[in-house]
Amino acid sequence: MESYVLEVEKLNLAYRTLRGDLLAVNDVSFSLKPGETLGIVGESGCGKSSTAYALMKMVPSNTSIFTGKIIVDGENIMEMDDADLRKKVRWKKISMVFQGAMNSLNPVIKVGFQVAEPLIVHDNVPKNEALERAKELFKLVGLPQDFINRYPHELSGGMKQRVVIAMSLVLNPKILILDEPTSALDVMIQAQIMNMLKDLRKSLNLSIIFITHDIALASDLCDKIAVMYGGQIMELGAAEQVLPDPKHPYASKLIGSIPTLRSEKKLDFIPGAPPDLVNPPTGCRFNPRCPYRFELCEKETPPIYILDGGRQVRCFLYKGKG
Ligand SMILES: Nc1ncnc2c1ncn2[C@@H]1O[C@H](COP(=O)(O)OP(=O)(O)OP(=O)(O)O)[C@@H](O)[C@H]1O
Ligand SMILES: [Mg+2]
Repeated sequence: MESYVLEVEKLNLAYRTLRGDLLAVNDVSFSLKPGETLGIVGESGCGKSSTAYALMKMVPSNTSIFTGKIIVDGENIMEMDDADLRKKVRWKKISMVFQGAMNSLNPVIKVGFQVAEPLIVHDNVPKNEALERAKELFKLVGLPQDFINRYPHELSGGMKQRVVIAMSLVLNPKILILDEPTSALDVMIQAQIMNMLKDLRKSLNLSIIFITHDIALASDLCDKIAVMYGGQIMELGAAEQVLPDPKHPYASKLIGSIPTLRSEKKLDFIPGAPPDLVNPPTGCRFNPRCPYRFELCEKETPPIYILDGGRQVRCFLYKGKG
């Protein structure tokens, strides 16, 4: 049997809101092998960050539903108490670079110390040793080692992004979640960060979950792609299967909306708006916007159908075709 470093089964996460429960993550399942990279793509508000926070078990205080299995390195962390989670798993086995993290560095503390802090505070490592570790990490993420003595305002956006990636690696995690790590950067810096991630993946055998709304970026880095819509994964499969030939109507529209070099072909867009997650459409969440919908789509939630090559598609068009 192949070993997985992360297995997620039937993950659900809902928030209490004034209008009722908002189901941001609904029946999400996937797995990740050591060294593998999964890209999660989808429109704004489809539940990408919520999924990431759920995997870290860092859910907000207005959480009303939080169920499913999250098996990290063979242990279901949903059943683990907070003290154990902090001691053994969070940041140590599974770590995350939050969306917009580079803008939340503490402005009055030197960046090297911010990287070293968890070692000093949680692991009682002497300050000098911890700063040496910060230097090693700076080298790993492509920053000059003497930059540990700089303050955040003395760094460019790309450098700050490297610092927050160094922070996420300080306790040697096996799994790294990156939530929109390059969205605020220009394309040249973005390319450098992407190359750095490829190097890190190789040298540390890191498993990466790469969250982005930029499918071209995901295709550059990821072995597998999950396309999310309205809190659900609509299609999941090998990048070389999903990207050239998406099967789910939403995945197909989303991928069809990527511009290509000077083409006469009109770019796809999807009429209508993303679903209201407090009152989602009955049946398939995409049915009101789907050009292929038929009666069943409005009545029942489609299950996941497994097609050739192991690709998973949540769409009744594939009923009986697996
Ligand atoms: N603490 C919260 N309380 C209530 N609703 C929330 C909370 N956090 C997120 N949401 C809602 O959950 C849904 C999913 O949000 P999430 O941030 O996971 O989306 P996303 O895919 O990461 O979007 P983006 O691409 O804009 O970052 C949205 O409708 C959002 O408004
Ligand atoms: Mg987000």
